[in-house]
Amino acid sequence: MNIFVTGGAGFIGSHTVLQLLKEGHDVAVIDNLSNSSEEALKRVEELSGKKAKFYKGDILDRKLLDAICEENDFDCCIHFAGLKAVGESVEKPWEYYNNNISGTLNLIAALKDHNMKNFIFSSSSTVYGEPKVIPITEECPKGTCTNPYGWTKWMIEQILMDIYKADNDWNIVLLRYFNPIGADSSGRIGEDPKGIPNNLMPYVTQVAVGKLPKLGVFGDDYDTPDGTGVRDYIHVTDLADGHIKALKKICDKAGLCIYNLGTGKGVSVLELVKSFEEANGITIPYEIKERRAGDIAMCYSDATKAEKELGWKAKHDIVDMCRDSWNWQSHNPDGYR
Ligand code: NAD
Ligand code: WQD
Repeated sequence: MNIFVTGGAGFIGSHTVLQLLKEGHDVAVIDNLSNSSEEALKRVEELSGKKAKFYKGDILDRKLLDAICEENDFDCCIHFAGLKAVGESVEKPWEYYNNNISGTLNLIAALKDHNMKNFIFSSSSTVYGEPKVIPITEECPKGTCTNPYGWTKWMIEQILMDIYKADNDWNIVLLRYFNPIGADSSGRIGEDPKGIPNNLMPYVTQVAVGKLPKLGVFGDDYDTPDGTGVRDYIHVTDLADGHIKALKKICDKAGLCIYNLGTGKGVSVLELVKSFEEANGITIPYEIKERRAGDIAMCYSDATKAEKELGWKAKHDIVDMCRDSWNWQSHNPDGYR
């Protein structure tokens, strides 16, 4: 198939492009490189022996999208492009709503005008807000988000559902990722956050590599087994595989489908630190800090729907994730720079 990947130079995008090329698909990427580097795509080429077409540009640029759609005959679009820093979205709500929502509307309009109605969207467990049920099934109602980033995912899901309702020619798969970490086992591509990381695993790997002195653990008085926050960490390679499976679902005329992509297993902050230490033989100094605003105690998936309907199941455990995250960071202490 010929796949149009937005945000394909980013963390999850680059791993998915690698998997798509390995599976024999043709790939065209659009990315404005606002949070990524073209080097990621060069390394994807080195790993797969195949080249993805690359358009450096913005999904807000309708003329460019039209030109790309005219030049290529796409079978499906996988839409990763978006801004994703939760804290920054509180400071810059307009930028987040504009980039993520206007960008998606623009993309959908261009695809529709070229009669390309197969679409896979990167959604997030954040749409569940404070979840009503744990483990979280897809039937769990969407909740109240605590930040503009989360609302963009919430609203784009609604927009896509309404678009499907009005026009059943669309095939749309909404993939709700839990907490993606890890890296390709080659250690050549991985997560490369700008500045001080907001997320747990990149923070841990930067402590391990000596760039940061110690980890702050945000709260140890949650109602969880050890008091620290529990999340469903998922290996990015498993996540990439989820997109390959979603593509097969699209070929079977998916209609509109929603899937959680998680392992179904909750891991606390301290459990992750311990797994990292054991997997890599490195001690991670940490101190307990205040709870972080907007955090919830517990968030993990019921991943059975994706297994039943997509034949997808996460293969990697937390030890694999810790090993591969460290393999990437230790070989690339400054990321792609
Ligand atoms: P990322 O920042 O590494 O990748 C996003 C890519 O989109 C970047 O390469 C960026 O340069 C590009 N981009 C942003 N705005 C663009 C625009 N207007 N035009 C063109 N390119 C643009 O993030 P990621 O972790 O790979 O996330 C990919 C998608 O998955 C995002 O939509 C994100 O919200 C979603 N998601 C991520 C997580 C996570 O924890 N990483 C969890 C759930 C959902
Ligand atoms: C995980 C746990 C923290 C950093 C975020 C987004 C979510 C989704 C995934 C995109 C929590 C604790 C963290 C640190 C810590 N992204 N922590 N010290 O908050 O579950 O989810 O990324 O859609 O929308 O909100 O992930 O990695 O930031 O935190 O103790 O320095 O680690 O409190 O319990 P989170 P995270």
